[in-house]
Amino acid sequence: MSTLPVGLSRDLSAKRVMRATVGGQDLVVWRATNGEISAWDNRCPHRGMALSHGFVRGNTLACLYHGWHYNGAGTCTYIPAHPDLDPPATIRTNRFSVVEQDGVIWVRTDGEAQAPDLPGGLEPLRVFIVAASADQVQCGAAQVPYEGQMADAGAVLHFGAVSVMLLLSPLGDGRTQVTTLASAGLTVAQRSALSRWCEATRRHVEAQQEEAA
Ligand code: FES
Repeated sequence: MSTLPVGLSRDLSAKRVMRATVGGQDLVVWRATNGEISAWDNRCPHRGMALSHGFVRGNTLACLYHGWHYNGAGTCTYIPAHPDLDPPATIRTNRFSVVEQDGVIWVRTDGEAQAPDLPGGLEPLRVFIVAASADQVQCGAAQVPYEGQMADAGAVLHFGAVSVMLLLSPLGDGRTQVTTLASAGLTVAQRSALSRWCEATRRHVEAQQEEAA
């Protein structure tokens, strides 16, 4: 499994927690008060509660169920039922490598995350999910016009002066999460139009899958 995008940095401000999926792996991704980001198996080492239901306390993530706290290293630091106990270092979450680059959060579940070098001049637009494979999304997107204009097919879709790049993350259940980058400096109207293009792309690709079924 390579390094894949799971969300946008702007959607995960300090003290926020989000759930993500990459290649079938359920993840909790959270940002501590100090800005440090972590990506873990979405499962509390205690009784298996989804840690994405938890909340940030300072630079730790607290599980919603019994309130155990885990620091950025994934180590349990506090057990409310035993406040004087120094938790054993063996109580720790299953951590994954995570990096942020180009406003995107990237995770790798089987090694060190390394975000790819992306073309310059692009910035995050939005994230959406399509019930189709990554290849089907890439092919289908090139068939959807933006403002009446068709794109040149390629890794980056060029609609005249407006460019769009789709970063595709298979979710492991036949769906694909699409992280969309677009030309930097677009007007609000252009970004809104591109957001509608994303929706049109989703409908087009999913309609193709229904026809083929
Ligand atoms: S299940 Fe998380 S603290 Fe008990």
